[in-house]
Amino acid sequence: MNLYSLLRPLLFKLDPETAHHLTLASLDLLVKLGPYNPLRKRYPLLEKEVMGLRFPNPVGLAAGLDKNGDHIEGLAALGFGFIEVGTVTPKPQPGNPRPRLFRIPEAEALINRMGFNNLGIDHLVANLEMLGPREFILGVNLGKNKDTPQERAVDDYLIGLEKVYPLADYVAINLSSPNTPGLRELQHGRALETLLHGLDEKRTRLAQIHGKRLPIAVKIAPDLTREQLREQAEALVRHSMDAIIATNTTVDHSAIESLPHGGENGGLSGGPLRERSTEIVNLLHQLLGSDLPIIACGGILSAQDALEKLNAGASLVQIYTGLIYRGPKLIDSIMAALLRPGGAKTD
Ligand SMILES: Cc1cc2nc3c(=O)[nH]c(=O)nc-3n(C[C@H](O)[C@H](O)[C@H](O)COP(=O)(O)O)c2cc1C
Repeated sequence: MNLYSLLRPLLFKLDPETAHHLTLASLDLLVKLGPYNPLRKRYPLLEKEVMGLRFPNPVGLAAGLDKNGDHIEGLAALGFGFIEVGTVTPKPQPGNPRPRLFRIPEAEALINRMGFNNLGIDHLVANLEMLGPREFILGVNLGKNKDTPQERAVDDYLIGLEKVYPLADYVAINLSSPNTPGLRELQHGRALETLLHGLDEKRTRLAQIHGKRLPIAVKIAPDLTREQLREQAEALVRHSMDAIIATNTTVDHSAIESLPHGGENGGLSGGPLRERSTEIVNLLHQLLGSDLPIIACGGILSAQDALEKLNAGASLVQIYTGLIYRGPKLIDSIMAALLRPGGAKTD
């Protein structure tokens, strides 16, 4: 019995957002007190180079849990090889009214319609500036403000890119949250071309100023057809993007419709997303081969689930909902499975 399995029943009695804040505050405290020394957990055998970056291990924290970068050191102390903070938008915004986060324990799932609640890019930048030397990779996930008109969406991503450029190891472009009206439309056709072109052009200019080329990953939805995936994959390669993150939450609630909260609006994550997101990773791997690395995310609740994603062609994995249901032990059990002979597929 570990600490998290003792605490979970108590936390699950609280409203999910309150439990979220309480857990992260406790984690920060634990790190300050000592037992979670950020330098404690190292897995040298699991180091991996992806996007030209050296990842200390392939297991990352998915975006959305630490939107403002307020808890980076505490989260890194859990053993993650990389932490993706955000989604952050140029201006602060409150997100949707509460309640906006729902547990569906029967399916080890969550539905959220947070709507990019965040304190704005300047708050995040100030947090990143205070970070000491670190041994993990830091990604920043960028989005657009709700009140930015669709035709100016690109500007919001470019503002984000410019502000975090010297501080992040990579940026993730979030085109796939279901909770910002119009956002997912940026995944297709002309809108996608314009956005990717703008990002690549801006990066070329910033690379000259800062003397480094910042890798850009694009995060996609699971609710795409094979044809749409093909179109996206080709566009990403054409515009020199560095990775694809598959996937965000799904708007398909058919698996949990009959369960309590199953009918809430928002993106579904956790158990019911696993199979679909692995299918997407598989398809992308067929389409992309070694042209673009895949960072897999969606429904990883066990070490076996992480291996499934890696065997489907992913180079790295990320978790969110699994952490809520299984606790930090999940990270250790994935590492243990990867370290077992034949556990990790090396490339
Ligand atoms: C409460 C909550 C908030 C999220 N916020 C974001 C976000 O701000 N940006 C983002 O790219 N993804 C966000 N996600 C999606 C996760 O990063 C992840 O892609 C998705 O939940 C699937 O992984 P999982 O099944 O391991 O949770 C959020 C997910 C949850 C549950």
